Amino acid sequence: MHPDTLIAIDGPAGAGKSTLARGLSAHFHYRYVDTGAMYRAVTLACLRRDIDPDDATAIAAMLRNLDLQVTPGTGGQPSQVFLDGEDVTPHLRGPAVNQAVSVVSRHQAVRSFLVARQRALAEGGCMVMDGRDIGTKVLPWAKVKIYVTCSLEERAARRQADLARSGLATGHEHVARELHRRDSLDQGRAIDPLSQAEDAVVIDTTGREAADVLAEAINVCLAKGIVALPGGKEK
Ligand code: DC
Repeated sequence: MHPDTLIAIDGPAGAGKSTLARGLSAHFHYRYVDTGAMYRAVTLACLRRDIDPDDATAIAAMLRNLDLQVTPGTGGQPSQVFLDGEDVTPHLRGPAVNQAVSVVSRHQAVRSFLVARQRALAEGGCMVMDGRDIGTKVLPWAKVKIYVTCSLEERAARRQADLARSGLATGHEHVARELHRRDSLDQGRAIDPLSQAEDAVVIDTTGREAADVLAEAINVCLAKGIVALPGGKEK
């Protein structure tokens, strides 16, 4: 492990974690892993095999043979997730996965499987990783921990605008209810719930431009001694 070159970002859905994480990855020339995409890929694998998201035994059996690979993003690009060699990244954000992912993520077998993968991905250091439990469970030794917050109102408005851009018109109330449901499940689960690490720096993105949030986070990283790799030298 290289704790001095690890940046952990946590927070609720839609708070701006991945925008910030990709910005930091581009700035410091670090690799980026979106751990939410890994939970989404396991959920997609369940749905494709008709496994009930509540069925811990069937999911644990599935994981024993699951071929899941992750390619970290570089230069501000998202990470990619592969199931049986297929790049499933474009299929991870549909309504069926959204609906089931917080249920699948509750199971111990799923969390152990993915936490081990995430730690292996971070082995070489120079990594920005975002999720719900990165600073508390996956990389508690990370040099920088940032906890991103934002009002539910604004998170719903942003999510609604994203959906509209993808041609999916959805009511604000519906989007807000869905985010709130996921927050409650993620915060209320027994194993490694969404929570702020004691030593995390909180950044509230409500009412702020992404560039302004990124500038604050870069300063947090610099103050902790994070040094940019030379351009194009991502490991
Ligand atoms: O970041 P996201 O919205 O794509 O995450 C989808 C779900 O995955 C989230 O609702 C809970 C789960 N998740 C988790 O349990 N732990 C993580 N480190 C990342 C995501």
